[in-house]
Amino acid sequence: MISQRSIISTITAKRTWNALGGIHPRLSRSTLSLVVSNGRRPTPLERRQFHTRPSVQAPAGVSPTSVAEKLSLAGKVTVITGGARGIGLTLAETVAGLGSDVVILDVLQPERELSELEKTYGKRIRYYRMDVTSKPGMDAAFASAINDFGRIDNCITSAGIALDKPFFEHTWEESRRLLDINVLGSFFSAQLAAQQMVKQGNGGSVVLIASIAAHCAIPAQCVSLYGASKAAIKLLGKTLAVELAPHNIRVNTLSPGFTATSMSRQFTEIQHVFQTTPPLKRIGTPEDLALAVAYFLSDGASYTTGAELAVTGGLHNGRIEV
Ligand SMILES: NC(=O)c1ccc[n+]([C@@H]2O[C@H](COP(=O)([O-])OP(=O)(O)OC[C@H]3O[C@@H](n4cnc5c(N)ncnc54)[C@H](O)[C@@H]3O)[C@@H](O)[C@H]2O)c1
Repeated sequence: MISQRSIISTITAKRTWNALGGIHPRLSRSTLSLVVSNGRRPTPLERRQFHTRPSVQAPAGVSPTSVAEKLSLAGKVTVITGGARGIGLTLAETVAGLGSDVVILDVLQPERELSELEKTYGKRIRYYRMDVTSKPGMDAAFASAINDFGRIDNCITSAGIALDKPFFEHTWEESRRLLDINVLGSFFSAQLAAQQMVKQGNGGSVVLIASIAAHCAIPAQCVSLYGASKAAIKLLGKTLAVELAPHNIRVNTLSPGFTATSMSRQFTEIQHVFQTTPPLKRIGTPEDLALAVAYFLSDGASYTTGAELAVTGGLHNGRIEV
């Protein structure tokens, strides 16, 4: 005799499975029904088998053309928070160059003329005003972008602010603001993007921008809370990678070192530190980060999730000068 509860849970499971793309070859319909209908919680292995999507396959060999093909983002839509300038804007151009349409979400208007970029790359590149400290505003911006573009395949969270101040001088308000933008802003941007990816049912890729400050103290700066906010991002990359893996959504983090943008330029008195302390003896550029992010987003990284890549000129390993 089949109970009403088991019928409901079987139907729910089948709907979920259908939404995810079908029946996994290693798990027949009857096994699935049994797992969900006999009243016990599935074991972690059963859950994983249930969620493993059939389209996840090992790549078939490597050749120069297949490497180029795997880097291609043709047909994808990439959302970039903080994409109006600096690292985010360079990444917007990077992904457009690889064939992706681009959604820029930022409080500022983009520094580049988007119609020109659209002509250069032959891709749709649109800006939506979004403040990552307002959840209703984020919901509305994501909804507009999804309405216009129809889907989200990739998300890069680059919106962030820095605070260089001695520990004893941090105020409550500025500290809250920093955590709201750097941590909650990235967290809920990733959540909104991943919700859409789950609806689409064929996975996706999220790259969270952390920082060298998540790895160690920074010479000549007092960035305790900023570093803590970026350490939170680094851990989110790992925990979300595991939680979203059943949906084939990969999550990785990139930690830039000192990078020449408006953010680092505001620290006028320590530019020499940015140039001399990295073992590779120069400040980085946003372009130095482009291929690392392109890799994380690409199909070539289909087995890479929960990874952290520090692109710092070696600084996270130690300093060349003090
Ligand atoms: N530049 C560096 O040296 C460096 C080093 C390590 C990590 N990072 C990180 O890289 C990311 C990008 O930094 P950048 O150097 O390009 O800085 P940037 O200041 O040039 O760009 C940051 C972008 O985030 C946007 N932003 C800020 N607050 C926002 C909000 N509330 N809502 C929406 N957008 C908001 C800004 O408008 C800006 O376009 C940041 O997360 C930063 O912490 C930068």
